[in-house]
Amino acid sequence: MLTFSVLTLFPELLRPFAEEALLGKAQARGLVRVNLHDLRQWSGNRHHKVDDTPYGGGAGMVIRVDVVARALDALRAEAPIDEVVMLTPAGQTFTQASAEAWATQGGHWVILCGRYEGFDARVERLVTREVSIGDFVMMGGEAAAACIMEAVARLVPGVLGDEASHQDDSFSSGLLDYPEYTRPPVWADEGVPDVLQGGNHGAIREWRRSQALARTLDRRPDLLPHAGLMPQDSAELLR
Ligand code: ADE
Repeated sequence: MLTFSVLTLFPELLRPFAEEALLGKAQARGLVRVNLHDLRQWSGNRHHKVDDTPYGGGAGMVIRVDVVARALDALRAEAPIDEVVMLTPAGQTFTQASAEAWATQGGHWVILCGRYEGFDARVERLVTREVSIGDFVMMGGEAAAACIMEAVARLVPGVLGDEASHQDDSFSSGLLDYPEYTRPPVWADEGVPDVLQGGNHGAIREWRRSQALARTLDRRPDLLPHAGLMPQDSAELLR
């Protein structure tokens, strides 16, 4: 089973992500497991302090390496750990390809959420990966942990009701998703494209592919060189 053990100073921030909606259901069905651990348990002092001032001066506080090491030893004593991920804006950017690789790999993933100015640099020796969710800086890693768990867990077989439904996600084909419509057939003078109401599945597939290409060209042309285009796509893009 895919297990996430999250080490955080704010486990309650992540509780709803782990327990509500599809992730909660996936846990109840034994498909995924999310363990939330308060890093302060391993502070080693009665004030539950896990951070200290940076050597060399400067603003903010730094999370101590010995605290993280004790936490990892304690988790390892309970169950083998396959990967230890440090969340940091200085990490490798997490993408849909990462989500697919993590879901395929499975196993027990420990996720370290930072706060303040981050971790003591020596924490690097304790982790297998450093991961960022994008080129922006948040107040801590908890929101990043939620993003990553959402992205990975939905790819675990059985978590989404409909197994086909993530095969045409934005990004899994390298392109943005095509537009979807549901009732009403006309809203504020805008109708649903005729082709979608026609029942010709070949025509629908072609229309969706051309919409995905056009949208990607318009909104995210940077994705196209890596999109694995098919010969008929180039003609579509040149139209
Ligand atoms: N912590 C703060 N900012 C972050 C980011 N962009 N990705 C991962 N962890 C972070």
